[in-house]
Amino acid sequence: MKVIQSISEWKTIRPTLQGRVSLIPTMGFLHEGHLSLVRRARKESDVVIVWIFVNPKQFGPKEDFDKYPRNRERDLELLRPERVDYVFAPTVEEVYPPGFQTTVAVEMLSKPLEGALRPGHFSGVATVVAKMLCLTQPHTAYFGQKDGQQCLVVSRMVQDLGILTEIVVCPTVRDADGLALSSRNVYLNPEERAVAPLIYQALEKVRAAVADGEREAEPLRGMMRAVLARSPLLSLQYASIADAKTLEECTRLNGPAMASIAVRLGQTRLIDNVMLLAPSQGAH
Ligand code: PAF
Repeated sequence: MKVIQSISEWKTIRPTLQGRVSLIPTMGFLHEGHLSLVRRARKESDVVIVWIFVNPKQFGPKEDFDKYPRNRERDLELLRPERVDYVFAPTVEEVYPPGFQTTVAVEMLSKPLEGALRPGHFSGVATVVAKMLCLTQPHTAYFGQKDGQQCLVVSRMVQDLGILTEIVVCPTVRDADGLALSSRNVYLNPEERAVAPLIYQALEKVRAAVADGEREAEPLRGMMRAVLARSPLLSLQYASIADAKTLEECTRLNGPAMASIAVRLGQTRLIDNVMLLAPSQGAH
């Protein structure tokens, strides 16, 4: 496993890579969710590259960029047994050198949900993902369904810009009590951690109601709000039932939809989602 920090060094390596190249984009502080992407990539490719970069452009001025958890040694220890070929971990100055002035914006899909609460977040994501895809030129890049809107934004960008990488979305990995794995879960104190599974319980409630035939979106949103109201520690930011392709809020479910939730739990923001009426329904 070779760790690369410098883009100029990387540029000498990329032309030597042979066979199917895969990329797993991350911001580090890796957990089993990331490792599930790495394992899938390892099975499906000849060269596996893990990108580790806490991207300042996707954090708002009052967000947690400075305190976002970082532990390079731990990340490398977790990746070694997975037979990763390259860890590409550039510095902020490498990715955004003086004079950098390009932004990639995916207009409509970036507006609702996370985009409404985190202005500029998705242009930060799209810009860095475009740059990492240009640098690494992978056949496939693996993303987690947990960031459902991010998956749609990145897929749209790749399609719109004619980037040849195939975007593969992998199921959310959860703790035994249903909480979706996230690097930010380390921020939770024991009391907050104890109520965090309500998020997935709310999503499961919706999934069960849809399986029982409910198709009206507003009662489904009400079910999520009711479950989340069980703890005063949870403050709801959104409980959405949206079209799985456009992210427009549904009035009635006529096809694949995404139920998604964002909450504040103390100082921590958590998000999660499940797919409804999608062919892969039940997988995550
Ligand atoms: O999902 C993440 O960790 C980040 O948004 C990504 C895709 C690595 C871009 O910085």
